[in-house]
Amino acid sequence: MTTPARIGIVTVSDRASRGDYEDRGGPAIRDYLADVLATPFEPVAALVPDERPTIEAALRRLADDDRCALIVTTGGTGPAPRDVTPEATEAVADRLMPGFGELMRRVSLEAVPTAILSRQTAAIRGGALIVNLPGQPRAIAECLDAVFPAIPYCIDLIGGPRLETRPERLEAFRPRK
Ligand code: MTE
Repeated sequence: MTTPARIGIVTVSDRASRGDYEDRGGPAIRDYLADVLATPFEPVAALVPDERPTIEAALRRLADDDRCALIVTTGGTGPAPRDVTPEATEAVADRLMPGFGELMRRVSLEAVPTAILSRQTAAIRGGALIVNLPGQPRAIAECLDAVFPAIPYCIDLIGGPRLETRPERLEAFRPRK
């Protein structure tokens, strides 16, 4: 049996990490992935405060030690002084993938005018694709539905496991060789 693909899920929130409220974003991302993916996967969750060194350490650990093929973050992408998830993502990146942020903002703008306040981005670190989402749980499907069709092929290209989606939910696009 093949080992399930590991997927990192990082909730970035001062208040959820202090226990002031429950983390809703992380479980919602896990549910989204379970709905979309046909390939078995193993979620590896982290809940961290809005502190750059802590976010960077979580991303490094998930990419380098846990060997996640995909890491999805939620929160900390806005303009407030403590919103530093994009900076942490860029700091650990081998290369940036700006198309993800561009497309996610474009589709989010159809849902909320404040979509332009998110500085969400994406990056490659080693064999991992890191994708930032805003902290609003409803942003998860709004953003991931737009970019997910390209994610399995991106992971192919960086040498990761082959991810298949449930076509009745979402069709992954792989250009014909
Ligand atoms: N994108 C989507 N799809 N849905 C949303 O509700 N909220 C916006 C924006 N992008 C939102 C969205 C708002 S109000 C903010 S402030 C920014 O994301 C940053 O959110 P964050 O700091 O929680 O990451």
